[in-house]
Amino acid sequence: LNSLVDSSNSSQDISDETKLRFENEMDSFFALFRRYLNDKASSSKTIDWDLISSPSQNEVVPYSTLNDDSSNKNFDKLAVLKLNGGLGTSMGCVGPKSVIEVREGQSFLDLSVRQIEFLNKTFDTDVPLLLMNSFNTDKDTELIVKKYQSHRIRIKTFNQSRYPRIFKDNLLPVPKSIDDKLDAWYPPGHGDLFESLVSSGVLDSLLQEGKEILFVSNGDNLGATVDSKILNHMIETGSEYIMELTDKTRADVKGGTLINYNGEIRLLEIAQVPKDHVEEFKSIKKFTNFNTNNLWINLRAIKRLVESNSLQLEIIPNQKSITVGNSDMSVIQLETAVGAAIRYFNNAHGVVVPRSRFLPVKTCSDLLLVKSDLFNLQHGTLVMNNLRFGGAPLIKLGSDFKKVSNFQQRIPHMPKIIELDHLTVTGNVFFGKGIQLKGTVIIVCSDGQKIDIPNGSILENVVITGNLQI
Ligand code: UTP
Repeated sequence: LNSLVDSSNSSQDISDETKLRFENEMDSFFALFRRYLNDKASSSKTIDWDLISSPSQNEVVPYSTLNDDSSNKNFDKLAVLKLNGGLGTSMGCVGPKSVIEVREGQSFLDLSVRQIEFLNKTFDTDVPLLLMNSFNTDKDTELIVKKYQSHRIRIKTFNQSRYPRIFKDNLLPVPKSIDDKLDAWYPPGHGDLFESLVSSGVLDSLLQEGKEILFVSNGDNLGATVDSKILNHMIETGSEYIMELTDKTRADVKGGTLINYNGEIRLLEIAQVPKDHVEEFKSIKKFTNFNTNNLWINLRAIKRLVESNSLQLEIIPNQKSITVGNSDMSVIQLETAVGAAIRYFNNAHGVVVPRSRFLPVKTCSDLLLVKSDLFNLQHGTLVMNNLRFGGAPLIKLGSDFKKVSNFQQRIPHMPKIIELDHLTVTGNVFFGKGIQLKGTVIIVCSDGQKIDIPNGSILENVVITGNLQI
């Protein structure tokens, strides 16, 4: 690491500001790395299952019990931040996930902008939108942000840290110099938010503007709209951190959950659970809700905790593979999660919100849902169609639909799914225009075959295999 820093210092082409930032980043990385080695060496960091109990009634409260105060009196204290450091790799995209088109030619980012613009216009307020980018996402994001220069919205962007990946076998850093190629580095997870907010100067400028609360959410969660009831609740209760949780279904058994650990509130992630308790963790009876990553955080508290170096977030080692020369090498990247910080904030607690506030898009099956007639788009917000009875249908698209480009080719026109309960599609399947799906629809195309669903088809409770309809 020292030689990495030396290489940047001796370079003439790099500005002093960049060098300083790099040096600070390497210091923070080194602290994280040292902690990782210490954790590995001692077993004291593993969870003791016997110290876990369910959170108390004050630690997790239902949304319905919050004071019915949805006035806009606290909007001048609010800033909204979208976590935007991640790529759309898992959906086969090369750029940031937030630029994927969701509805009517608009991306996640465009829709987030619309939401805030509408809020500002409706309540004659000036809530800024912040985007925490990474070195992977900043250029593409800037192109979108430029479009909004003359709009009624202030968009501020800043970059999170860039840390060196390390080789798994010898724990040496992958990059050899500050400008080594991109895959030698990584953005260290959304837990990096706190440090990056402070080091970029964004936190101080928000405080100077009189902002007190930051509403943080994942860039792909279009359900994470500003909720004045939660904002007012946070200010009234003097809470420094509120995590929105939602009830678990069988589809999200792996989500992190709030627990009381030896008298203290904590987020418990599946990776921390001892092997013989994983099934218990997944059970929807014992741990009934999970973290949506919609978080309301007090800005002064962030400053206090970062400046006193108090945030020691659990390290999530993430193993990846990169190509070095002609061979594939295993590397490790040390990440942290923003939700893990809950334990350090005063009067922190969870609020169990309706499922409508959690609408993530992790796969093209999720993309089909948000693009469909199941939702209406209202000023950037997706509102469940009131003709729908019950929750969202279960959609499972096979690997031929994994990449967004394949999904777009295979389903160029969204089928109507208001009356759909369950859809499974696997293999070489193409959808025509004006299709309606109802009940349970299963389409399985065998290898070497092709199924074209004709324009205008109405498929209700059917299984289609090859050219056969049963
Ligand atoms: P994740 O990739 O962590 O998604 O990104 P996930 O699978 O839903 O994981 P969890 O359960 O939320 O952790 C979540 C959000 O965080 C951003 C992504 O852009 C996305 O909006 N993110 C992720 C960052 O901003 N920086 C990072 O280093 C990682």
